Amino acid sequence: MNSRRHFLKLSASLSTVSLTGLATANTITQGIPDPSKSSFDLARDENHWQQIRALFPVQDELINLEHGYWGKMATVVEDALATNTHRINKELSWYARTQYKSDFLAARKSVASALNANVNELMLTRNATESFVNLITQYKGLESTDAILWADSDYPSFQKMMAWLAKEHNVKGHKITLPAAGTHEDYINVYKQAFDRMPNLKLMLLTHVSNQHGLVLPVKAISEMAKARGIQVICDCAQSWGLLDFTVDDIGADWAVFNLHKWIGSPVGVGALYMRTGTMAPVSPFPGEDPNDEDVANRVHLATSDFAAFITVPKALAVHQAIGGSNKEARLTYLRDSWVNEVQQLPQVEILGAKETDNASGMGGFRLRHATSKEAVSQLQSRLQNEFGIFTVLRDSLTSGCCIRVTPQIFTPISHIHALSDAIKTIASTQ
Ligand SMILES: Cc1ncc(COP(=O)(O)O)c(C=O)c1O
Repeated sequence: MNSRRHFLKLSASLSTVSLTGLATANTITQGIPDPSKSSFDLARDENHWQQIRALFPVQDELINLEHGYWGKMATVVEDALATNTHRINKELSWYARTQYKSDFLAARKSVASALNANVNELMLTRNATESFVNLITQYKGLESTDAILWADSDYPSFQKMMAWLAKEHNVKGHKITLPAAGTHEDYINVYKQAFDRMPNLKLMLLTHVSNQHGLVLPVKAISEMAKARGIQVICDCAQSWGLLDFTVDDIGADWAVFNLHKWIGSPVGVGALYMRTGTMAPVSPFPGEDPNDEDVANRVHLATSDFAAFITVPKALAVHQAIGGSNKEARLTYLRDSWVNEVQQLPQVEILGAKETDNASGMGGFRLRHATSKEAVSQLQSRLQNEFGIFTVLRDSLTSGCCIRVTPQIFTPISHIHALSDAIKTIASTQ
C-alpha cells in the first residue's frame, strides 16, 4: 500500500478511537495493512513523514532540533486530553470516585502490555524522576561494606541522587567516566573493568539513552554481567522508550524507570516504574503501604494527580503503535545519521557518544574540537540559533566537557537536518 493511502486510513482510524477506552494497536490499525516498505526504507520516505507531520501541531517559524525535553502530542491526543480534562473538571469527585479507578487501570494495563510486562510489575508515575526517587529513597539493600556505581553520562540529577544514597548509607559511591565516543564493545569493556576493580558493588545506575548525547548503551549485556556478580541494576529508560523500540525483555534489568511524555507522546506528567516479579524485596513499600504486597503499585503513592493525563495514555500509545515503534526508531536514527555522516569528517568537529549506528539513537551530540567549555559551547548554540534559526541545547555534564545536543522528532523534515549540517560546515570553516 502506498504511504498516502496508509496515512489516510491511519488518520481516519485515529479519529474514531474512543477517548479513554483501551485503544490497542490492533483496534487502531485494523484494516490498515502495513506499508509495503521496511522500516529502513520508510525512514527515507519524506512523503510518508510529511503526512505523519500533519498529525501534529507544528511550529513552522523555527527549526526545532530540541525535542529531548519532552515530546509532542499528536493532535488527536491533544484533543482527547482536552475532552478528558473538561469531563473531569465537570464531574470532579463523581468521576474520580466512580470511574477513575478502572480508567487508570486500563491505562496501566496498556503500558504494561506495550512493554511486555505483567500489570503487577508496572505502575504509572508522574515522571521518571518520581519512579527513581521511589527506588532510591526506599532502597534498603545496602550494608557498610557495599558500594554503588554510576557514570558521567547518566542523568545529572540521578547522579546526585546516587551520591546522596551512598552518603545516606555510608557506603562507597563510584562515578566512572565513559569514553567521550565509543562502540558497544568499548562501553561493555568500561563496565567490565569497573566491576573487576570494585568487587563490592551492590547497586548501579545504567542509562539506556544518555540525555547528554543520545548514546545507546548495550544495557542487556551490561545488566547480565552485573547480575552475574550480584549487582542490582536500575535502568534509566526515561529518554529511550519510543525513541527506541523495545520491551523490558530487551533491557535485562530487574528495575527500570520510564517516561511516556517524551517519545510515546502522552500528555506531560506520565512516567512509569517497572520492577520484575520476585525482585521487589530490597525496595520498601511506600511508607505505610502493605509490606507483603508483591505489586509495584505499593512502592508509589500518586495522591491527587493529573487524572486527565493518565487516562489519555491509551490514546497516546495507540498513536505511537499505529505509526510503529520500529518505524519511529528507524526514522529518528536515519535523521541523526544524516547530519553526523555529513560533518564527522571535518577536522574541526567532534561527534560525541555513539561511534557507530549500532549504539546511536535519533539524539546526537557534537562540539567544535577542543572547544569544550560552557562559554564556547554556549556561543555555538547561540550562533546556530541566531544566525541559522536552528534551536538546540547545551549539555554540560560529561567529564570530557560540554556539547550541543541535537534532537529531531519523527516529523522533522530532512531539509531541517540538511540546514543543520550546512550550518555546522559554515561555522567549522571559520575556525
Ligand atoms: C536520561 C534521562 N533520565 C531522566 C530524565 C528525567 O525525566 P523527568 O524529568 O521526566 O522525570 C530525563 C529527562 O530528560 C532523561 O533524559
